[in-house]
Amino acid sequence: MKIDFANLQLQYQKYKSDIDASIHAVLNKSNYIMGEEVKQLEAELSTFTGTKHAITCSNGTDALLLALMAMDIQPSDEIITTPFTFVSTAETIASMKAKPVFVDIESDTFNIDANLIEAAITDKTKAIIPVSLFGQPADMEAIKAIADKYNLKVIIDGAQSFGSTYNGKTDSNLGDISTTSFFPSKPLGCYGDGGAVFTNNDEYAEKIKMIRVHGKNKRYHYKYIGMGGRLDTIQAAILLAKLPHYKKELEEREKVANSYSNKIKSNATLPIIKLNRSSVWAQYTLKVKNRDDLKNKLQEKGIPTSIYYPLPLHLQKCFKNLKYKSGDLPNSEKASKEVISLPMNAFLNKKQIDYIALNINIDEENEILVVEKK
Ligand SMILES: Cc1ncc(COP(=O)(O)O)c(C=O)c1O
Repeated sequence: MKIDFANLQLQYQKYKSDIDASIHAVLNKSNYIMGEEVKQLEAELSTFTGTKHAITCSNGTDALLLALMAMDIQPSDEIITTPFTFVSTAETIASMKAKPVFVDIESDTFNIDANLIEAAITDKTKAIIPVSLFGQPADMEAIKAIADKYNLKVIIDGAQSFGSTYNGKTDSNLGDISTTSFFPSKPLGCYGDGGAVFTNNDEYAEKIKMIRVHGKNKRYHYKYIGMGGRLDTIQAAILLAKLPHYKKELEEREKVANSYSNKIKSNATLPIIKLNRSSVWAQYTLKVKNRDDLKNKLQEKGIPTSIYYPLPLHLQKCFKNLKYKSGDLPNSEKASKEVISLPMNAFLNKKQIDYIALNINIDEENEILVVEKK
């Protein structure tokens, strides 16, 4: 049986006529940089998320950088975040010459543990960056309360969670600034690099728009140090063609996740979505003790899996100057040894899900089906 992890090819075939027409409209106008499709996409993203400003940009990493630059983060500042995330979350803090301060995660949601944040705050702390990992927002009520108490800003790294909700609001609304990525394999992806920044704050929005284009306030006049951070018009056109299908895709991803959860009967710990939140299921991630065995076994059966993330950021060489050591952030370290993400896309069918679950449920040693959850 052929199983694709993200199945971007099938998705393209389904929406081909819309996507091709949208790309050709740009080619026929040659409006490659900041064409009207970019503006139209920003208006539609703003409507979709309910966020006042949606500002597209070059990728999810630059979206974080734009947020940090808009907040005027300085070299001595400290920013609290999670070590169990893609490197961009902390890399961008370090790019600003500020200091990432890592706080451990909750073992069930994989998101930053709000209960541990206060102990990490110093008089240099300027902001908190929770990541909505695998598609589910962190405990934003608790995080906002801490941020308000200590006068800190909140930037949500929503690279994996475009459209997810917390108490009914999309996570683009939950921080002072939120970001996302349109990397091809993200829940809403384009066909190259892309990203966006969201805010309800007019001043941030105005500044981010300038920083995105070299800090320009009028032609050849520059108010801020900025960057070349625009989204290509062709990528905007692709996203415009895909966005109308996104709600339906999210429903399908939810069904796939529920089917996995109903059908997997092994010792694996299943992912948990908290009651007041929704996930866009960027990943369906199990925790298992024998992770590498399971990965190999599934690979032999033609089932692709991924490990997000095999080494938490506090133990990465690039952050060795921060002087963390093994054992400092135990939940993150344990998760990095146990996580395994299963194929996830809106087009997985019942046969494929049954086949994946069946192969997980086969007991490793005895090759018999595990029928009861242990
Ligand atoms: C949590 C997180 N933050 C940031 C990024 C960076 O996004 P991009 O690859 O678009 O730069 C990613 C992408 O993988 C991510 O997963």
